[in-house]
Amino acid sequence: MRNLLITGGAGFIGSNFVRMMLAKYPDYRLVVFDKLNYRGNLQNLRDVAGDPRYAFVRADICDAQAVANAIREYQIDTIVNFAAESHVDRSILDADAFVRTDVYGVYVLLEATKDFGLERFLHVSTDEVYGEVLTGASREEDALEPRSPYAASKAGGDLLVRAYHVTYGLPVIITRGGNNIGPYQYPENVVPLFITNAIDDQPLPLYGDGLQERPYQYVLDHCEGIDIALQRGQPGGVYNIGPDEQVANIVMARKLLDLLGKPHSLIVHVFDRPGHDRRYALDCSRLKALGWRPGHTFDQALEKTVRWYVDNEWWWRPIKSGEYRAYYEKQYGERLRLAGQTRPELAEGERTP
Ligand code: NAD
Ligand code: DAU
Repeated sequence: MRNLLITGGAGFIGSNFVRMMLAKYPDYRLVVFDKLNYRGNLQNLRDVAGDPRYAFVRADICDAQAVANAIREYQIDTIVNFAAESHVDRSILDADAFVRTDVYGVYVLLEATKDFGLERFLHVSTDEVYGEVLTGASREEDALEPRSPYAASKAGGDLLVRAYHVTYGLPVIITRGGNNIGPYQYPENVVPLFITNAIDDQPLPLYGDGLQERPYQYVLDHCEGIDIALQRGQPGGVYNIGPDEQVANIVMARKLLDLLGKPHSLIVHVFDRPGHDRRYALDCSRLKALGWRPGHTFDQALEKTVRWYVDNEWWWRPIKSGEYRAYYEKQYGERLRLAGQTRPELAEGERTP
């Protein structure tokens, strides 16, 4: 492995992965291949842009010719695929782009892996493909029971990856991660949304009762797990990557407000996400057997994340305008109006619709 194509590398996790890999492996070349959708952002990579071991190609993974050209031009031997439409709420509003990128795009990359005889194809997937787990923790061999259009599209991608291993013997690896938090996460995901809203004394729209649990993990712990799976994983293997604890959204929201010195009354219970998965949890013993361990507790991960957003307004303030405002109104306008957020003096819990 020397020349890696990092598809979706200008997004949240991909850009953190690129930075980590450049620091870790002096002899690797990393080529980011990204179409720059509304979440793709070259500002995420501005500190590595001058590195001679880094290159950027703006293109779509659904474009087989562009993928082939990049593989040829940069003598790619490995693909790490982060490219996806990634936000569950947007998939509920319109799933078209999700099916296209998260299923068809994966097919295009698999075909290229086959045609060029690449050494590895690592596909970055998600715990959401297992569906909600009310007790216990998902293991890699569990059935895939996705419940949102996003999760179903990701599961479709996973199944194609598996089929290309079984049918053509492709050297593929799948990782399935829990919720990431950390620098450069687009502020529509709950943690950066809540931090940036709280900084501006705006309401934190908490879905339903807020008792849904998520395995929130620091993004670099996830990236480290992806690298370990890449280096030491078995071809055809699937590896869960997540922390040892799950945290309820309402607990996360209160802790985040405490870190910022803001009142809990900013939390506004709004009507729930349709089909909202109540709980995810991951059994990661397979990756731990390869030497991986989570590097942060939830409290450490949240504290680092809050600090980054406080220190980096230059990054998120420009994002929270334009298209973002239109999406925000569509997603939250009615929710917040119905929740009576015009009476912000009400205590948390009194505003449940
Ligand atoms: P993100 O939306 O921030 O980044 C995705 C990147 O892919 C963006 O830069 C975007 O421009 C690019 N992209 C989208 N469609 C593309 C296409 N057709 N061609 C080329 N590039 C395209 O997402 P993220 O949160 O960084 O997630 C990265 C990957 O990790 C996704 O596959 C996601 O399913 C998976 N994942 C995310 C989490 C999480 O908590 N965020 C957890 C587990 C797994
Ligand atoms: O589990 C991994 C997944 O994590 C990834 O595969 C996805 O790409 C990523 O977007 C993320 O999906 P979630 O739906 O779990 O993340 P999100 O940040 O949208 O929501 C986290 C939790 O917070 C979830 O229970 C819904 C809740 N929530 C979310 C938003 C945006 C709220 O209560 N209010 C909100 O405004």
